[in-house]
Order: sequence, then structure tokens, then C-alpha cells
Amino acid sequence: MSDLRIIKNGSVAVTDEGTIAWVGPADEVPSSLRRTGVIDCSGDTLMPAFVDSHTHLVWGGDRKDELEQRLGGADYEEIFAAGGGILSSVRQTRELSEDELYLESLARISRMRRAGTTTFEIKSGYGLDLETELKQLRVIRRLRDEGGFRVTATCLAAHAVPAESRGSDADRAAFLTRVIEEILPAVAEQGLADSCDVFCDRGAFTPQESRAVLTKALELDLELRVHANEFGHTGGAALAAELGAASADHLLALDADERAGLRDAGVVATLLPGTSMVLGKPFADGRALVEDGVAVAVASDCNPGSCALENLAVVLGLACYGNRLSPAEAICAVTHNAAASMGLDDQVGSLRPGRQADILRLATEDYRDLVYHAGSPLLRTVYQSGTPIHGGHS
Ligand code: NIG
Ligand code: FE
Repeated sequence: MSDLRIIKNGSVAVTDEGTIAWVGPADEVPSSLRRTGVIDCSGDTLMPAFVDSHTHLVWGGDRKDELEQRLGGADYEEIFAAGGGILSSVRQTRELSEDELYLESLARISRMRRAGTTTFEIKSGYGLDLETELKQLRVIRRLRDEGGFRVTATCLAAHAVPAESRGSDADRAAFLTRVIEEILPAVAEQGLADSCDVFCDRGAFTPQESRAVLTKALELDLELRVHANEFGHTGGAALAAELGAASADHLLALDADERAGLRDAGVVATLLPGTSMVLGKPFADGRALVEDGVAVAVASDCNPGSCALENLAVVLGLACYGNRLSPAEAICAVTHNAAASMGLDDQVGSLRPGRQADILRLATEDYRDLVYHAGSPLLRTVYQSGTPIHGGHS
């Protein structure tokens, strides 16, 4: 993760189809390449565009009131237990038509792409009933098909027990049965998701409940992701390792055994430092993960409650200052490793022949300025498949 294989005075050749044809020193560009549309990027840095492997960016309404409550001392878990938090976003998301939800989400994802992210994992989980989960997942598909965004979809129907199922243990069990017997099969049948996620933590779902959901997802050929160990050693990370999940996310409370479990099972550890900052919680120990040989990704968690940050460059800075990754490790984490956790590392996340030309042009010759001057407007151009979608060519 610490070796970015930087090429000084490099060139990138892009095909008419928007893939990378060649990368190397400028004075070694093969003469066979047709040189049209040459762009002089002297003094600037080219790097892979950001890959955001954990977002909940399709939601209705907002929770800015909760932001003020939390800053006044209220606790995220208490707000959630009292029927606010995720459940408030569920109410607001259920109220919107599919078109309204699409337009709100389109505005958000467009801002995120302007800030350098061209690939997104997006979760459902603000429906918690069949109709609204499908609505959210259809919006995600429209962002891909109509909006032209590079997107994968994750069904997070087991994000929380919905208000209407909180009356008794039997109601809770019936909700889980609906997720397993009705929602996941419908989602898979309609081809609306690539992965399944579960919020396995205190106040959400137990490891046993989560295992039942994820086991069903495996039967349906979905990849697995787990919200794990955010509030304690709650069994999510161990479950992710046991089931061979693609990613275990949050991981604020993680001991050496849990780290070894993730490493040995090839699970990517996805850190969400924006959430730690917004909620005023500790930061996951990124250094220990790297030193123990776990593949680390960093993502925004962009969601209406615990972190609505849209700018992955800011989150990248927090991965250094909070999770103690080096700038090089953090860049690997928001590009190649994030793509690997989504099964897309053969398409995006690195500048290599055959990959999509999803490229950031930075107005600096030292990539470390992304961390040193975190949040500064260093992005000169954002390219998706060779097309500038933000900033100019010159
Ligand atoms: O990843 N931890 C659970 N889910 C989200 C928060 C969702 C919300 O608060 O709306 C997260 O932080
Ligand atoms: Fe999340």
C-alpha cells in the first residue's frame, strides 16, 4: 500500500474508447501510438480517480436537526433507539416518489463526482419494506443507466428493525423472515443488487441474525459486506471473516485476533473516518491493520445521519490524521483497494493499460498535498472514461 509506483515526467495514453492504452515515462511513449489530442500536464499530478466503496447516498430529506442535537450532547445510539436516526430517514425516504428520490440523489452524486469520485458503491436500507427497498435500488440503477455514473448496488434491507416491527420479539423475527424470504429473493430476481450488507452491531442486528441474512445472500449469489464493530467487539468482523465477505466496514473496536481473521479470509477492511469525526468517536486503528497485513480501503459512508461528507479528498485527509495511514497508503485505500472490495479492480482504481481512463489531474506535482492541504481545491480536471466531466482539458 505504501508503494504507489510513481513515474516522474510520465505520460498516459488513452484510447478513443476511454480506456488506458499505455502508461510510462514521457520519453518512452511508443511511436506506434497515434498522437492526437495531446494535453500538456507539466507540473501537475495524474492519479486514478477516487473509488467510494461505502455510501448510502440515496435517501430522502435530511437530519440536520440531529446534527445540532448531537453537537448539544445527544448520543447517536440514543437518538436511534428513540426512533430517530436511521428510522427518521426511513420515514422521509418512504414519502418520496421514485422520481423525487432520483433527483435528490442525482444532485448529491453529481457533487461527489465533481470532487473526484467516479465509482460508487451505494446501499439501500432506508426502505426496510419490500416496496421502498426496491424503489431505492431502482434509483441506484437509474443513476447508472440514465445518469452515466459508475455504480454498484448493495441491498441493506437489514439496516435496522423498522418502527412497525419493534413491538415484540415476534414482530422482529417476522421482519427478518421478510428480509430473507421476500426482499432478498425479489432483489436478486430483478437483478437490482451486486451485494448484500447487514448492520451487525449493538442496537441493530446480532451476529446470529446477521448470519441468517448473509447466508441467504450467498445462496442468491450476492457478494457480502458487513457494517461491523462500530460500537464494540460485537461479532461483525468475525462473521465477515467466517463468511468470506468482500468487505468489513467501520471496525472502530478491533483486536489482533479480529485483524488476523480479516487478513486470513481476504476481507478488505473499510475505514470510514468521516463518521468517526462527525459522531465524535475514536478512529479505527488503520496503522495496526496495515502492519498486520490487512488490505485497507477508505470510504465516505455518505449518509444522512452519521456522516454526510461528499468529498472523498477530505476523508482521505482524515484517514491520515485519524486512522494514521500514510498519504500513500490512504491513496491506495481510496482507489485500488476500494475498487478491489467492489470486484472492480480490473476496471478502475489504478492507471494501467486496459483500465478505464478515470483520472484526476491535480494542480500540484506532489500528491501528498492532498493530505498536507486537505480540502484545498487541487482538482484541475476529473476524467471518467477519458472524458472530462469536471474542469477543462487545458
Ligand atoms: O454506516 N451504521 C449504520 N449505518 C450508517 C448510518 C446510517 C444513518 O445514520 O442513517 C453508517 O454509519
Ligand atoms: Fe454505512
